[in-house]
Amino acid sequence: MKKILMLLALILTLLLVTSALGWGAFNYFLVGDNPSLKDIDVTTTETSKYDNINVKTIERRENDNRSLLNVAYPVTENSKINQALEELSLDFIASFTETALSQEQAYQEYLTETGLVSNTIVTDYTQHFDVSFANEKYVSFVFYQYQSTGGTGLDNTFAMIFNRQTGAEIPIKDLFTDSSYLERLSKISREVLIARMLEKAETLDGSKQAIAEYIKNNKESITEGTKPLAENFNSLVISDDGILTIYFDKYQVAAGSEGILSVEIPLEQVADMLAPEVKEVFSIPKPKEKKPAPVAPRPQTIPDVSSAGQVNCDETKCVALTFDDGPSVYTGTLLNTLKEYNVPATFFVLGRSAKIQPDTISRIVAEGHELGNHTWDHKDLRTLGGSAIDAQLHQTDELLYSIVGIKPRYLRPPYGAFNDEVLKHVDRPIILWSVDPEDWKLPPHAELVRRMTSPQSGAIILAHDIHGPTVAAIPEVITELRKQGFTFVTVGDLLRKPLNAGQVYRHR
Ligand code: NI
Repeated sequence: MKKILMLLALILTLLLVTSALGWGAFNYFLVGDNPSLKDIDVTTTETSKYDNINVKTIERRENDNRSLLNVAYPVTENSKINQALEELSLDFIASFTETALSQEQAYQEYLTETGLVSNTIVTDYTQHFDVSFANEKYVSFVFYQYQSTGGTGLDNTFAMIFNRQTGAEIPIKDLFTDSSYLERLSKISREVLIARMLEKAETLDGSKQAIAEYIKNNKESITEGTKPLAENFNSLVISDDGILTIYFDKYQVAAGSEGILSVEIPLEQVADMLAPEVKEVFSIPKPKEKKPAPVAPRPQTIPDVSSAGQVNCDETKCVALTFDDGPSVYTGTLLNTLKEYNVPATFFVLGRSAKIQPDTISRIVAEGHELGNHTWDHKDLRTLGGSAIDAQLHQTDELLYSIVGIKPRYLRPPYGAFNDEVLKHVDRPIILWSVDPEDWKLPPHAELVRRMTSPQSGAIILAHDIHGPTVAAIPEVITELRKQGFTFVTVGDLLRKPLNAGQVYRHR
């Protein structure tokens, strides 16, 4: 009786699986020996934080866990998009099925010949994705696929952009006005990758000859992998924070041990070659003034802003202006304003953006402002594990140190968000704010000025130098606060007394 039930279950499984996956799966189950109930796919669907985008996950564990599959892909409101996403996922699953079958045969042969159980013959396939951009009209996904048969495995990444109304996939070339984008992206990414590689070479132990060899080999593979060909730039992602990311597959521009590499470019830097629709979607301002911000020479000695202040905030009404999420294309203008009005400020910068605009970081420090750490790429630290939190902080520290020779003394966690786990990993004071004008919601100019100009004495005002309207409001904010008798100081000067690591400060 039990056998009949098993057989029924098996037939049902076959029907389900073949209808879902096609005949490749059917063949697999015929050849594979005694598939048991746990061999059935587990398929789950969950909602994502994006409207109308769900996550479908197919999981398989077969052959005593020697064959592992985990495939996640998005399901949207548009059936044409879904069809395309399902097709690519089923292709990946078919490739898994084929590989798992031959691997399992190899395993069985090995077992017969040697009588030994091997745990190195494993087929492990994983696909996951991120939503890099989503609005009502467009959605962009980036897929990561990993395929391993026991070795280090293959990593592969690619992006797909869809029109959500028509369901049509938008080819990457359509993001740009003409094909000259390949030359530009090739040049930019080559420069970035070579500079990064040379930086790494400096830290390597080894003979001069070995390091020269390392540099030569890497230059060759970077040059090869960044040739201006469409196939080398098939993984472009534009995210809603205005960054164009180019992903390079494992082995494309470096040794396999480096994994997938990426180069990030602010959209403003390539605005002139973006298609008009792209500019519209990402609301990139049309270039007005072309004159580049003056670049200050790197300071010989770093001014210690905390002792530089002669202001005594016990006797004076003090306020600290803080700017988050930069540096950006607007930071130069902001620095000009601060210089003109002789106002010090504190910049909580992102490592990712600092890497793209190191000269702006030099200027911030050279002109007497204070630098704070706002993590590498603005992840909610509560969602990360301990080592990822450490990496967010220290990667940013190291980068800033390499540019200006100082490590930021304070952290401002993205969204002001932290929990006990985060606090365990924060090795410095946490600076939040007491005035939040919500400038990122882009309130009308007068309203923004109003919100920023009624602080208590000792307040820390939050603002963002990634928004043009915020930067444009600063002259009025300064004038109004001065009229009220406020003196501007950096966070260091405002709080002054020794601060404790892991403790949160919102005002004096
Ligand atoms: Ni932020």
